[in-house]
Amino acid sequence: MNEQNPVLVTGATGNVGRQVVRELVRAGVPVRAVTRDPGTARMPGGVEVVSGDHTDPDSLRPHLDGVRAAFLVWPRLDDTAAAHEVVELLAKQVDRIVFLSSGAVRDGVAEQSEPIARPHRDIEVAIERSGARWTFLRPWSFAANTLEWADAVRTGGVVRGALGGNKVTLIDERDIAAVAVRALTEDGHAGTAYELTGPERLSPVEQVWSIGELIGKPLRWAELSDDEWHERLLDRGFDAESAKAFRESVREAVDTPQPITNAVQQVTGRPARTYREWLRWRAVEFTDPLPDIRNPGSGVVLMSTWTLDGPRRQRAAADAVLAAWSDSPWPQGLLRHSVFLGTDGKTVLHYSQWTDEDAVAASRDSDPPERVAHIDAEVPGIQRNGVTSYQLYRSVVPGGSLQPGCIVLVSFRTDTAETGRSFVDELLSWQESELDGGSAVGGMASNHFHVSTDGTSLVNYAEFEDEAAHQAVVESMLGGDDTVPRMIERTPGLTGLGFQRFLPYRGLTRH
Ligand SMILES: NC(=O)c1ccc[n+]([C@@H]2O[C@H](COP(=O)([O-])OP(=O)(O)OC[C@H]3O[C@@H](n4cnc5c(N)ncnc54)[C@H](OP(=O)(O)O)[C@@H]3O)[C@@H](O)[C@H]2O)c1
Repeated sequence: MNEQNPVLVTGATGNVGRQVVRELVRAGVPVRAVTRDPGTARMPGGVEVVSGDHTDPDSLRPHLDGVRAAFLVWPRLDDTAAAHEVVELLAKQVDRIVFLSSGAVRDGVAEQSEPIARPHRDIEVAIERSGARWTFLRPWSFAANTLEWADAVRTGGVVRGALGGNKVTLIDERDIAAVAVRALTEDGHAGTAYELTGPERLSPVEQVWSIGELIGKPLRWAELSDDEWHERLLDRGFDAESAKAFRESVREAVDTPQPITNAVQQVTGRPARTYREWLRWRAVEFTDPLPDIRNPGSGVVLMSTWTLDGPRRQRAAADAVLAAWSDSPWPQGLLRHSVFLGTDGKTVLHYSQWTDEDAVAASRDSDPPERVAHIDAEVPGIQRNGVTSYQLYRSVVPGGSLQPGCIVLVSFRTDTAETGRSFVDELLSWQESELDGGSAVGGMASNHFHVSTDGTSLVNYAEFEDEAAHQAVVESMLGGDDTVPRMIERTPGLTGLGFQRFLPYRGLTRH
């Protein structure tokens, strides 16, 4: 075995494995990544992606040839028998195994008291007995666990959970990965179990407060009753007995402060990242997906679409671009990048707001080409349909508090910008006179007319409560109310191009 032989990464699309792959690639180490779905795995360029279920020994076996080391994640903690088989297979092939274990594991005890520690220690023992050189990573709670609040944060202001006052340490997945990569590629880590933590203790209430502070939205913690907590665990697949045992073990641990170790610093040479650092990196998960279209600072809007060959890759492409933004320096003058998923299951819409044209031009000049290359490597075959620069011309936002669940882009070709603007003026004055200020269309939250800076295009970014609300508008036109189609027809230089519907997905704002 030598440095040309790949490192096998299991769980490669997961919280930690994805970061292990990236760190290995950065370090120039050949990687073989196992995933059940290579089509949506979004692996960096140069990674050998193989199709398999790493928790199924038969499925893993064909992928072990020539592998020199393995990073092992075990997501099926209810089935450690298969883990034993996998360990045996790996040990026959690799020089070293780095196993993602758990901070709950205690040394020097005959039996692990924590339910979560038992399967992890069981796998550790199998690895120790396998004869392979091993390193165990024993992290405490992942910062990524707080992603379970992301939906609640994006769509409301209340986060519900249990034991909101209990201080815990949260570790950034990138730090676990950094330690893993050292252990996979350097000598000196064999036979060591690293207990990995973040640098601070924060209660869930404080974590939620940090999220609110980052995204500029007041958030509130709501404590679950004991019964509600129990129900939630059942919903997550716990049976009644293990839900009870889990709650008891968490409660028992409340009075014992979690440790803060310096293992990340010791192994990598730099301190573990704080929860705020993690939040800045994963902010996209918590940020309201809908842009503030009327942001007065936004002088220019860039809109573009990508076409993919199906919903899973559509989503993978959206994730790839958001990850690329999260990882690269934020361009000067970019206020926000929002991503929408077409209801056709193929289209991704990018809507980015910039301060002015100069900022757009400066960013084009300085945009690292690697950013685009990374996205293309992660999701090959994106068809890019061109970028158009717009200015918001007029908005109509009727009163009321509809939460938009569907965005409709209604597009027109125009011969000049003036043609687009006059049409909008005519349309809106008709709406005001006929439709009582434009508020009579049920389920419509707003219309925002954008005129392209080159004068060739007009787009109405319309917000609807949901797809059905927009469909009702379309049907009313088909059913005879053809005022707007006639207005379009009789406007010289204006051609209607139709509409596309999108669902809000994610948005990134400068934080
Ligand atoms: N969360 C914590 O606070 C914490 C704390 C200490 C230790 N841990 C340890 O960390 C592990 C989780 O690590 P992680 O968050 O990086 O992993 P993960 O994201 O949950 O899963 C990693 C990958 O494993 C594959 N996978 C998931 N479930 C599977 C299943 N049932 N059968 C086969 N493959 C499956 C998936 O890849 P593909 O779909 O691409 O195949 C997934 O992306 C836990 O199992 C535990 O051992 C967690």
